[in-house]
Amino acid sequence: MIICRTKEALRTEIKTKKAEGKSIGFVPTMGYLHEGHLHLVEQARAEHDVVVLSIFVNPLQFGPNEDLDRYPRDFERDERLAMEAGVDLVFYPTVEEMYPDEPSLAIHVKKGTDVLCGASRPGHFDGVATVVLKLFNLVQPDDAYFGMKDAQQVAVIMNMVRDLNLDVRIVPCETVRETDGLAKSSRNVNLTAEERTEAPLLYQTLQEAKEIILTGEREADMVRAYLLKQYEDRLSGNVDYVELLSYPDLEPIKTIKGTVIIAVAYRYSAVRLIDNIVFTLNEG
Ligand code: PAF
Repeated sequence: MIICRTKEALRTEIKTKKAEGKSIGFVPTMGYLHEGHLHLVEQARAEHDVVVLSIFVNPLQFGPNEDLDRYPRDFERDERLAMEAGVDLVFYPTVEEMYPDEPSLAIHVKKGTDVLCGASRPGHFDGVATVVLKLFNLVQPDDAYFGMKDAQQVAVIMNMVRDLNLDVRIVPCETVRETDGLAKSSRNVNLTAEERTEAPLLYQTLQEAKEIILTGEREADMVRAYLLKQYEDRLSGNVDYVELLSYPDLEPIKTIKGTVIIAVAYRYSAVRLIDNIVFTLNEG
């Protein structure tokens, strides 16, 4: 497995692979790899000659009071896991390597950012889009793999690819969960033991809400009220948001129809968790 710490080293490797006619599957990450990431690698591995994984905790997507400093990092562990998973190349740049100078332009995501994490994390998706675009330009992947736990991120990136005519296919992959249903996340290590015990209720309650819809409820406000009440009664942290939206347009809905996302962000003492369910109502 090759490790590139500079853009120049990465470009050289990519040029060689491309010249050999090899296809590239790309998994962008912020490291502290877990099964969710490895699932993305597995899918990329099955579909491509070369699998590139990037590890970069992108300061641009963290707000001033967010967990940039607390974000878990362990490169040696990541390196071992990446190797075992069959990654061919790891791109592991420093912040200075990715952002050497004051940029002359800024990427601003206009659509789908006034809801969900976009509303509570202003500027977050500008930072995500900026780094992902830079990474796409460096890695030049055929396909890029993203987990649906960050369903809003997937929608924003798909829209960017469409709007800027980028030559990459975005592959959304199902959320990988612990056996008790908690979505795998690098941030889960920051839960206290008590919080970890109750956190699976986040997803369980989303499933209950889906069931309520499948059995006939169509009013988004009713389902939202149900979720808020359950989180209030059953969990010890604080709701950041609970929303029902159309997907992938991320437009607010009154009546539930078509493909929808039910999404939650929940704050515990040292960590904010997100989760969602996306599903389609097939009605005439
Ligand atoms: O999903 C993530 O880990 C990050 O948002 C990404 C896509 C690697 C960009 O920094």
